[in-house]
Amino acid sequence: MENIARLYNGQAWKDTDGHTIRAHGGWMLQQDGYYYWFGEDRTDGKKVSCYRSSDLSCWENRGAVLTLKSKVRPTYYRTSLEMYSPDQEDIGYGQGAVIERPKVLRNERTGKYVMWMHWENGRDYHDARCAVATCDTIDGDYVYHGSFNPIGYMSRDCTVFQDDDGSAYFISAARDNADLLVYRLSDDYLSIDEHVKTLWPGQYREAPAVMKRNGVYFLITSACTGWLPNQGTYAYADSLTGKWSQLLPFGDSTTYDSQPAFIMPLQVQGKTEYLYVGDRWDPSSYHDSTYVFLPLSFPMDKEMKVDWADHFTLNHFTDSIENTLHSGMHRIKSCGAERYLAVQQTAGEEAAVNGKMLSYLAEEQKWIVEQAEDDGYVLFKNVFDGRYLAASLSSDELPEGDGKVLLVQKGAHGCCCEWALKDADDEGKILIRNRMSGKVLSTRNRTGESLAHPSVHVEEAVEHDPRKGRDPQLFEILAVY
Ligand code: DGJ
Repeated sequence: MENIARLYNGQAWKDTDGHTIRAHGGWMLQQDGYYYWFGEDRTDGKKVSCYRSSDLSCWENRGAVLTLKSKVRPTYYRTSLEMYSPDQEDIGYGQGAVIERPKVLRNERTGKYVMWMHWENGRDYHDARCAVATCDTIDGDYVYHGSFNPIGYMSRDCTVFQDDDGSAYFISAARDNADLLVYRLSDDYLSIDEHVKTLWPGQYREAPAVMKRNGVYFLITSACTGWLPNQGTYAYADSLTGKWSQLLPFGDSTTYDSQPAFIMPLQVQGKTEYLYVGDRWDPSSYHDSTYVFLPLSFPMDKEMKVDWADHFTLNHFTDSIENTLHSGMHRIKSCGAERYLAVQQTAGEEAAVNGKMLSYLAEEQKWIVEQAEDDGYVLFKNVFDGRYLAASLSSDELPEGDGKVLLVQKGAHGCCCEWALKDADDEGKILIRNRMSGKVLSTRNRTGESLAHPSVHVEEAVEHDPRKGRDPQLFEILAVY
């Protein structure tokens, strides 16, 4: 198949009408030469969107298949049918109930399309229920059958898996996300048949997605960090309900700034290939969240790999992947405050530097790491401001021992823009030590300071007591993809 259209990973994708594609936490099914992409759409009372494409690049909007106005019909077990009225107070994601991670399977016995999803009340994430809807056609109006706690358990991030023999499974995070539970569905896929496995108890996993290749099951998941990306993991097993391997790293320390949505098996030139689809959630603005499509590879039968690619076309499975380099920019993430070093957009001689919530569009959170001479020190040049991160020890405004961090022209008097990066653990965390003062960057909270935007300063390096929480002197330097 000749593919001309390219999808640039992490950017807003448009449908064939030129509107932003809203299909977050999604799922795909293939039918009659089309890929159908279902996902979350939280605009105007919509709940689940559906798009279709014959080439995975040009997407036609087929309309919202589940909305606040969808028909409601009870099913044969007890569920709560409410979706809440459109004028209900909400937590800022849209009107009515929050529906996340919709997944659709076709039941061969009944011919019905059955949607499983995560349901919350629109005010908080405490109800932790699953919900079910059905339709006679893949992209028609789904009938809503209500929400419930499977066998009484909490049920948050979820996925489904249909095995070769037609049996289907619902997998969701329970016990406040501590455990992942696997349930076998009834023959009609409408109800839970049995809780068949508890995966990685106490390991707090989210965003599960399952696939099977050459008889081996693979499951990918993320850790639990809200809307922030984290190191993805995968595991494998010979049987879904048998013994699973331990969790192994998948992608880089932020899964290339994404969280798993699903894995799509594809037929490409007579071979089955597998596509990883992840959400790039924007923690500062849910509606600006985007997607990444990345080919999966399998160096060995039980090894799974995902590599970054700037853009995606179906040709990626047949051609060598071009343009796989990241942008050359980085974000500097504080491990103590879960915030990203940013320069304040104020004009003036001394621009303040503080920690801000991740925003993918914010140039002021992006830094270019330059080598200083040839002695191992680096400089951080802010992409928005063009100036360099520096420590100044001349300010008297700060508590004794602390030093101010600011942005300066390279080589400015009285401060130093050169920094040494010292590995602090095996997980890529580093201490960033200023060359001139010997002090290290820190986001330690000081009295009266806003937790939302902790200031960044330099202080003496101290050994951290993990009982006090996360180390404010540790950072990660993350490539911007
Ligand atoms: C991460 C989950 O994977 C998302 O689906 C969503 O529930 C957010 N957490 C909410 O914080």
